[in-house]
Amino acid sequence: MNHIRSCVVGSGVYLPQRTLANTDLMQSLDTTHEWIKERTGIERRHIADSTQLTSDLAYHACKNALDNAQISPQEIDLIILATTTPDNTFPATATRLQQKIGNTRGWAFDVGGACSGFLVALTTADMFIRQGKAKHVLVAGADLMSRIVDWTDRKTAILFGDGAGAVVLTGQTNTSSGIIGSVIRSDGRGYDHLYVSGGAGSTKECGTIRMNGKEVYKKAVYCLSEVIASTLKEYAVNPKDVDWFVPHQANKRIIEHTAQISGIEPKKVIDTIACHGNTSAASIPLALHEAVSCGKIQKNHTILSAAFGGGFIWGACLFRW
Ligand code: UT7
Repeated sequence: MNHIRSCVVGSGVYLPQRTLANTDLMQSLDTTHEWIKERTGIERRHIADSTQLTSDLAYHACKNALDNAQISPQEIDLIILATTTPDNTFPATATRLQQKIGNTRGWAFDVGGACSGFLVALTTADMFIRQGKAKHVLVAGADLMSRIVDWTDRKTAILFGDGAGAVVLTGQTNTSSGIIGSVIRSDGRGYDHLYVSGGAGSTKECGTIRMNGKEVYKKAVYCLSEVIASTLKEYAVNPKDVDWFVPHQANKRIIEHTAQISGIEPKKVIDTIACHGNTSAASIPLALHEAVSCGKIQKNHTILSAAFGGGFIWGACLFRW
């Protein structure tokens, strides 16, 4: 019990005001509300206005998380921002976020893990905390997917939305709460199945999302089920003892299928996809915060989170609230 555990002491979110319903997309794309709802579970998504930056979304979510944690910005030792849509190619958007929240004494950096970015950031933060290198860490996931969507491609344009979520992690001893452990994997053979068609180092333009949806779907269910089984085994947790499953929200059918294979009952699945769509690195903290806010997640509950995305990069994380 004396070793340091990384405990979530506050969470926060931000969603842009404007929503785009499936019926709105029918104005410009050859699609229907019924097709989108049945194949993905999505009904609407939030879209930022043109003046908003990823760091703005992240700022609001982080401010909300810091207020809920009752921790001042200057107490933060480390800020890790997961994003696929940085404000600029460099510097790290996390430093802009650091400036916006008013922290001058910490260290800030971005991680790129696409839809698994939040779990990559959380796992990285946990290592810093366990090693005693940081006490309070702000972990955020923020993405402006609307900026990299090809709005003429009905196969991908219907899937994504904008948003941000954050948690404050604090190192504590003598507690059974906090991150139990995580397993993260990647396989570069998946690179060409889900990617953005540009970048500073290739086309010098940011590009738009390209996806081989069927292949991604199959791999997602397979890899998520495998990594969940490995994580539960490694940390000796029975699927029946998981109180809540907080997955990345890419497709309702992927979530349901994965939960079923993993032995997690449907009533334990946190599902926010209908209202947010796929917000990439923001989707897990958005779902987590919603489950906490509506009182589903309670002290001592065991939570399993899992994500799969571009790279491919995927993983699972277990924590006790
Ligand atoms: O977070 C990162 C991870 N991303 C994911 O996990 C996404 C994984 N993939 C998926 O979620 C699914 O593959 C999609 C939702 C993207 C697509 O669903 P699907 O059941 O795999 O559909 P499909 O691509 O096989 O397309 C079936 C049919 C096709 O028509 P034909 O060829 O059968 O005549 C498509 O052209 O549906 C058509 N279609 C659409 N129809 C209406 C594709 N997109 C649409 C659309 N509206 N938006």
